[in-house]
Amino acid sequence: MSNKTPDLRAAYSLKSPEENKRLYAEWAGDYDDNFAALEDYQLHIHTARAFVAAGGQGPVLDVGAGTGLCGAVLAGLGVGPIDATDISAEMLDQAMRKDIYRDAIEADLNQGLPVPRDSYAGVVSSGTFTHGHLGPEALPALLRVARPGAQFALSINAKHFEALGFSDAFGALEAEQISNLSFTEVRIYGELAAGPNKDDIALIALFEKG
Ligand SMILES: C[S@@+](CC[C@H](N)C(=O)[O-])C[C@H]1O[C@@H](n2cnc3c(N)ncnc32)[C@H](O)[C@@H]1O
Repeated sequence: MSNKTPDLRAAYSLKSPEENKRLYAEWAGDYDDNFAALEDYQLHIHTARAFVAAGGQGPVLDVGAGTGLCGAVLAGLGVGPIDATDISAEMLDQAMRKDIYRDAIEADLNQGLPVPRDSYAGVVSSGTFTHGHLGPEALPALLRVARPGAQFALSINAKHFEALGFSDAFGALEAEQISNLSFTEVRIYGELAAGPNKDDIALIALFEKG
């Protein structure tokens, strides 16, 4: 058991993949009701819509899929097949109950993905490139499993983007590994949100594997 109450504040202060595993094991059962619904979480919707608007198609990998909120929107928009990957077996268990994913891949993205290279035509991620979670060093592992031309839609918390130097990381990738890079600002939460993070912003990075 973790000594942290599973909520956004605790999630943003996580220090390691092991702490992520512990917190999300506890949070999985009520993440959708006691976090996403209560806080009017919208980021998964923005991310899935941006992917589809950019012409994204399956097979898609949903990175840090959690309980499957982004995958559910993608599936509703007619995209598939979709695989889910996450460090938390308990979150993936919730995702698989939604009956939208082809496969669940339990992995710490910092250690790479146990998937053959060039497997996916699309990669999405919602809410996982944020404080206490994943930084830009995880990007090469995603590029490895994407096919040439694969469409990416990755949401990145705007303050985390600044703090961890995502701009430089994307600049380096743009030199030879990705193309058509653009960023769109979106609000992470909707009008019903009331907590201290209610006005938080994310950037959705759209790009193609070069
Ligand atoms: C805030 S949740 C977002 C879940 C979902 N995408 C959404 O938008 O609701 C962040 C997810 O990232 C996962 N995560 C954290 N660190 C990770 C890592 N090192 N590798 C893979 N997944 C990780 C957590 O287990 C959790 O499910």
